[in-house]
Amino acid sequence: MLKRIVYGVCGAAIVGLCVFSIYAWYPAIDPVIPAQTDYSPEIIEQGRVLAAAGYCSTCHTPSGGTPYAGNYEMHTDFGTIYSSNITPDVETGIGNWSEAAFSRAMRIGVSRDGHHLLPAFPYEHFNKMTDADINAIYAYIMTSVPAVNQVKKDNDIPFPLNIRWFQAGWKLLFADTQPFEVNSEKSAEWNRGAYLAEGVAHCGACHTPRNALGGEKYDQMYQGAAIDGWIAPSLTSTSTSPLPWRSQDFYEYLSTGNSLYHGSAAGPMAPVMHDGLSALPDSDLRDISNYFADLDRTTKMDESQSNKILQAAIDAQHQQPDQRIDEGARLYATACQACHYSSDQLVKGRLLITIGSATHLDKPTNLINVILDGVSSDQGISGVVMPGFRDALSDQDISAIAAYLRQTAGENIWPKLQQQVGEIRNQPRFEQ
Ligand code: HEC
Ligand code: HEC
Ligand code: HEC
Repeated sequence: MLKRIVYGVCGAAIVGLCVFSIYAWYPAIDPVIPAQTDYSPEIIEQGRVLAAAGYCSTCHTPSGGTPYAGNYEMHTDFGTIYSSNITPDVETGIGNWSEAAFSRAMRIGVSRDGHHLLPAFPYEHFNKMTDADINAIYAYIMTSVPAVNQVKKDNDIPFPLNIRWFQAGWKLLFADTQPFEVNSEKSAEWNRGAYLAEGVAHCGACHTPRNALGGEKYDQMYQGAAIDGWIAPSLTSTSTSPLPWRSQDFYEYLSTGNSLYHGSAAGPMAPVMHDGLSALPDSDLRDISNYFADLDRTTKMDESQSNKILQAAIDAQHQQPDQRIDEGARLYATACQACHYSSDQLVKGRLLITIGSATHLDKPTNLINVILDGVSSDQGISGVVMPGFRDALSDQDISAIAAYLRQTAGENIWPKLQQQVGEIRNQPRFEQ
């Protein structure tokens, strides 16, 4: 009897494995040499804009490296992953890929030779794009990106996660492979914003929390997540920002890199805005802004309520605590206040830090990152710099300033703050 059960279980497992391997197996798609290049200038231009909006070059170019030639290093919870060479080089890039092979990679994360790609490549978002948009990106890369011969470094992922075949199981469990769905209750502009955000611009790849195996939690879409030593804040009604994100705030932030009422696009958000969104036409940025404003609580907070919150924050900075007693207040006055002052009229780039998003997040990560390393000229507003205080202020100093700001902002001081400053100081710095 027992033997029979054992045979039965083994048999079922073998059948299961066979079925899974059939499911997991993809054929190679024949190489084409030379690949198609007879595209109209309009399609190539459309591809250029979309490739920028998807920041392909940000992830496919290490700092100081050749554009699109790959080996950009991504540190994930599962190990180090290197991006592929996607220049049209025949030997080491995608020079012999057909449109069909490219489209399959962008939609289901399978390489031309049939091997599964890791979701560090956000194919589950690119999947939302139309065929025409995916083909336009192909047209742009094949005709306009110079071919570079450079072999992809091997990913450094521990066994058994490095078995690419297992990715088929991951996809089955976690990947959203549905095409973009038009919401017929919303306007065409709203749908355009959603299409861009969910697809090519893949906002959710950073702003949606992930489960233990790295799958996006679609029921918590855009509710905020940790990414590359930063926090990508919630973009929904769960945002901790004291002032609402109205459509014009999103637009201002996404088009200039800074919102008067919330702060700067620094860290991993900087290339999204500078390399990516800035390539899109103005109407697309407006549509993305309207889409996100619709997810925020804008409609639920009236103007007079937000004006009251703002006025209270402006007033609070005039009620300075005794600087002889409060070390944080004293350090703030000497290190920060010269630039971050505010009269009744807020000034762009001179953030009233007590209303800024970084002060109100559940974790001090972004505020401490900014104090340590500042905001460089290619982050936040172009050409505008905040100096970093990595060498000038100790962990104790930074923790005192952060505590002072939290208290002034009416929030509890983050637990184990000084220890967290030390940890954040020692984490790898985000490199663009
Ligand atoms: C967040 C980083 C990231 C972004 C953004 C990104 N990629 Fe990638 N891409 C990767 C990584 C990492 C790999 C390699 C994955 C692996 O080793 O399985 C990859 C692989 C690929 C491949 C497969 C190449 C091969 O030889 O199998 C293609 C094609 C590709 N990317 C195209 C694009 C295009 C086009 C864009 C922009 C629309 C883009 N990628 C944006 C990270 C990214
Ligand atoms: C590569 C990861 C990444 C991607 C992709 C990304 N973001 Fe972000 N985003 C971040 C990080 C990190 C921050 C925090 C930046 C800071 O505080 O300086 C941020 C901040 C923001 C903020 C400010 C939120 C606040 O409360 O201060 C907005 C708005 C935003 N992102 C919108 C978007 C939109 C829209 C997209 C897609 C078009 C997008 N992000 C794509 C990482 C990302
Ligand atoms: C020399 C002027 C200057 C000093 C001094 C300065 N800042 Fe800034 N800070 C700026 C500017 C300018 C920006 C906006 C940069 C941009 O968007 O390009 C900024 C942005 C910020 C932001 C928003 C970052 C984000 O990602 O949302 C915070 C928070 C901040 N500063 C905190 C501080 C603190 C705390 C101190 C003192 C330790 C300080 N700053 C000192 C000029 C300064």
